[in-house]
Amino acid sequence: METKTKSIKSLAVLCSGGDSPGMNPAIRSVVRTAIGLGINIYGIYRGYTGLLEGDMHKLSLSSVSNIIQRGGTILDTSRCPEFHTPQVRQEAAHLLARKHIDGLIVIGGNGSFTGAMNLHKEHNIPVIGIPGTIDNDIAGTEYTIGFNTAVQTAINAVDNIRDTASAHQHTFLIEVMGRTSSSIALQVALCTGAEQVVLPNQGINYQDIADTIHKGVARGKTSSIIIVAEGEKEGVCYQIRDTLMKQYQLELRVCILGHIQRGGSPTALDRTIASKMGYAAVHALQQGHNAHVTAFNKGEVELVPLTNCLGKRTEVCDSQLDLIRALAI
Ligand code: F6P
Repeated sequence: METKTKSIKSLAVLCSGGDSPGMNPAIRSVVRTAIGLGINIYGIYRGYTGLLEGDMHKLSLSSVSNIIQRGGTILDTSRCPEFHTPQVRQEAAHLLARKHIDGLIVIGGNGSFTGAMNLHKEHNIPVIGIPGTIDNDIAGTEYTIGFNTAVQTAINAVDNIRDTASAHQHTFLIEVMGRTSSSIALQVALCTGAEQVVLPNQGINYQDIADTIHKGVARGKTSSIIIVAEGEKEGVCYQIRDTLMKQYQLELRVCILGHIQRGGSPTALDRTIASKMGYAAVHALQQGHNAHVTAFNKGEVELVPLTNCLGKRTEVCDSQLDLIRALAI
């Protein structure tokens, strides 16, 4: 790991990709830590899109007052497909050089980290990534900021749906976010006592779903909850519902929780980890570390090479799946 101390005068921070609750506490921590160390800190608005447009403003201590409890991100964010192009990244590098930025902190997920890595490789820009996505799917870190809040929001929604499902003797398919990651689905299924969890990326076993519903009915259940991970495409629940209706004459209700899971006030866990990661990111750049991520592993924030965090952490936790099934008999 590179550790030579650099003279850092100015840093910039941006959020990129889907927002996640905890981005604001991370920004606050970056800004306050930098200013405390005598470093100028600039906020880049709307992610890489804003960087390309030079939408960059110096932040002060009061710029981040009263934001620790707020969801979303005060810097706004974007998905920026143009940033896949080397010429576009060159423009971004010129802009950073023109503003005398000595290092860039990127809060986001895999795509955002790939952009940061390319900027570093091609233009030698010092970068540090802070993992921020509700999906909890970045390689090299056991946790990404926002996951805990998103899970809690989904749990609250499923608890509400249980009330009406029970009152009307309905079975619900409830789709949660996470794209190709099953992390949210597994955690929500466990914490809501769901009768089943369906992970489309592992294939959908309709017979198994139908058997479990029938078994529940046979032992006197009048309603049940099936948590579905969205997988590649939002709306997979409708296909599952239609197939179960056609092949097994089962009538199910569908609820897609959607973007409600990305908003809301960050939980204590997200505020804590975000605050630690922001602090670690600034110190890492100040100490000359480069192209690293403030990962969270074994209960601690640690620096992990960015190259180890570019892939997706997609493994399904078999023991969690076994536990959900064991408790849903
Ligand atoms: O940010 C992650 C995520 O919320 C995924 O869980 C979801 O699949 C995706 O973003 C939705 O993206 P968009 O808001 O662009 O539709």
